[in-house]
Amino acid sequence: MEQFTFYNPTKLIFGKDTLSQLKNEIPAFGTKVLVVYGGGSIKKSGLYDRVHSTLNEIGVEVFELPGVEPNPRLSTAKKGIEICKKEGIEFLLAVGGGSVIDCTKLIATGSKYDGDAWDIVTRVHEPKEALPFGTVLTLAATGSEMNAGSVITNWETQEKYGWGSPVSFPKFSILDPTHTFTVPKDQTIYGIVDMMSHVFEQYFHNVTNTPLQDRLCEATLRTVMEAAPKLVNDLENYDLRETILYSGTIALNGMLQMGYRGDWATHNIEHAVSAVYDIPHAGGLAILFPNWMKHTLDTNLERYKQLAIRVFDVSPEGKTDREIALEGIEKLRSFWTSIGAPSKLKDYDINDDKIDVMAEKAMARGVFGNFQPLHKEDVEAILRASL
Ligand code: NZQ
Ligand code: ZN
Repeated sequence: MEQFTFYNPTKLIFGKDTLSQLKNEIPAFGTKVLVVYGGGSIKKSGLYDRVHSTLNEIGVEVFELPGVEPNPRLSTAKKGIEICKKEGIEFLLAVGGGSVIDCTKLIATGSKYDGDAWDIVTRVHEPKEALPFGTVLTLAATGSEMNAGSVITNWETQEKYGWGSPVSFPKFSILDPTHTFTVPKDQTIYGIVDMMSHVFEQYFHNVTNTPLQDRLCEATLRTVMEAAPKLVNDLENYDLRETILYSGTIALNGMLQMGYRGDWATHNIEHAVSAVYDIPHAGGLAILFPNWMKHTLDTNLERYKQLAIRVFDVSPEGKTDREIALEGIEKLRSFWTSIGAPSKLKDYDINDDKIDVMAEKAMARGVFGNFQPLHKEDVEAILRASL
């Protein structure tokens, strides 16, 4: 293992009927609250009304920023920052999925900065303070509810980058599995692919002696793969929603990544794809990940073999290490296809027209990937294999 420091100050409040705990959590932070939400799913589900009646009970003054888009945009965060500065907002409450939470993180830090909020995303400015914020999560996927990361799209320049800071952790996150009952089948599938991808990003490293980390990753993957096929056909099953919701948080709250850095190259390539084509984040990941795996197979065949045997139950009998590893990757592809995830860029009508543009965007911060550093020609090869 390498040296590490683990820091995660987010209070996780998990379970049925936990929304009422807003009453215990918010008053400590102030009385002017900006509620941030997306395109209206919370109005349809009734959560919007329940949040408002809880906020009314504690007598806070409520402001609103609706309309955060999936792949949240800089322009929307800027609207939120303007409200915060003008109204003297003291606390932000994100009610929604990863996009709403990520946007809230930029509003929280941007409200304490006089320059352009894009400086925070591009890491020109390192935030030292932020408005406090909490979340009510409605979709199991990103882990944003218990990490400091945020991914923002600048649609004008077609750039999408991840950023994070020690001051961008939520103060608390409320996770009630029933809030995820209304997530449609396609978004449920995307969430499952996203959380599995987060585990893969962390599993592929070249550091030795990580037996517990390996097994925690493998257990998370096996748990998700056991629940997922049942859940996509039984969307209001409490136990399955609970398992997937908890798995999504564990997959990216820092627990799995102690003692090594993960790879994160596939996320970087996906962000370049969705900056240009605005496709769902995990739709892109489902297409790209198996191709990244094939591309990097020889960097550490042993890890691929271990994954194939321990997670995908590949029998090693009479096979070379390479055959075992490749069979594992094929099993991952079949599993994602079996639950309804896309497998080719052409599923989103993407052809080879902009491979160069996407590869260029992926390279914006230079060579990337900790497991195997990728250069532009690697990215192009992975994108071509994904057509
Ligand atoms: O906007 P509304 O109307 O709320 O609808 C949303 C949206 O259309 C809908 N939805 C959410 N909860 C629902 C629901 N519909 C019905 N019932 C509910 N309970 O689902 C759609 C997608 O929502 P979104 O928040 O975009 O999805 P997700 O949570 O997958 O977030 C994706 C974003 O997170 C970034 C991605 O790049 C993408 O921009 N990521 C953030 C990470 C982080 N902060 O750590 C890591 C991830 O790898 C990822 O990159
Ligand atoms: Zn992701």
